[in-house]
Amino acid sequence: MTIRGCRDDDLERLHAIQSLCPQAAQWRPQDYLHLAHDPLGTILVADIEQGSSSRLVGFAAFHRVLDDAELRNLAVDPSHQRQGIARALLAAGIQALRVMGSRRLLLEVRASNRPAVALYHAAKFHLLYTRRNYYKNPDEDALIMVRGFSTGTDVPVSPHQ
Ligand SMILES: CC(C)(COP(=O)(O)OP(=O)(O)OC[C@H]1O[C@@H](n2cnc3c(N)ncnc32)[C@H](O)[C@@H]1OP(=O)(O)O)[C@@H](O)C(=O)NCCC(=O)NCCS
Repeated sequence: MTIRGCRDDDLERLHAIQSLCPQAAQWRPQDYLHLAHDPLGTILVADIEQGSSSRLVGFAAFHRVLDDAELRNLAVDPSHQRQGIARALLAAGIQALRVMGSRRLLLEVRASNRPAVALYHAAKFHLLYTRRNYYKNPDEDALIMVRGFSTGTDVPVSPHQ
């Protein structure tokens, strides 16, 4: 697996993965383009080798505001989930954000999104607070989670490699 920065010619595939993952934030293609070209934005993608070529199978989108960074979107192609791809994307993102001066990473997740909540706990995020009934149709709480960068150990880059 290779984690690298997103290129403009990846955006169609990112959007296709998002469409396969209804729990991901559903952005328009131009939203990815905008973030990819924002100096405060970072989009990382994961490629896996398939024979002599590679295939993009997941992405993580981050945005920095002062000392904080936010995980804005994250999705892994369902046919490649539970292979350590999201964990590796988060670890690489945290490493890059740290270098760029961020002190912590925040995220928002639906309380019912068990795979994502389990991932974030495994990646050493903890619950900061709950926004009651934040999501509509159906009404649902949002969990706001945070991972500080100054203490604690890093997420292992890829235990499944
Ligand atoms: C959440 C998501 C990104 C996880 O991606 P992934 O590549 O499958 O996750 P990983 O393989 O890196 O999992 C790392 C750890 O997270 C936890 N985890 C991930 N998926 C899990 C699941 N379905 N059930 C329970 N735990 C899970 C486990 O602790 C796992 O470690 P393990 O496999 O050694 O047990 C993926 O399920 C996804 O794309 N979901 C749809 C989009 C989404 O929900 N995005 C997040 C919006 S906030």
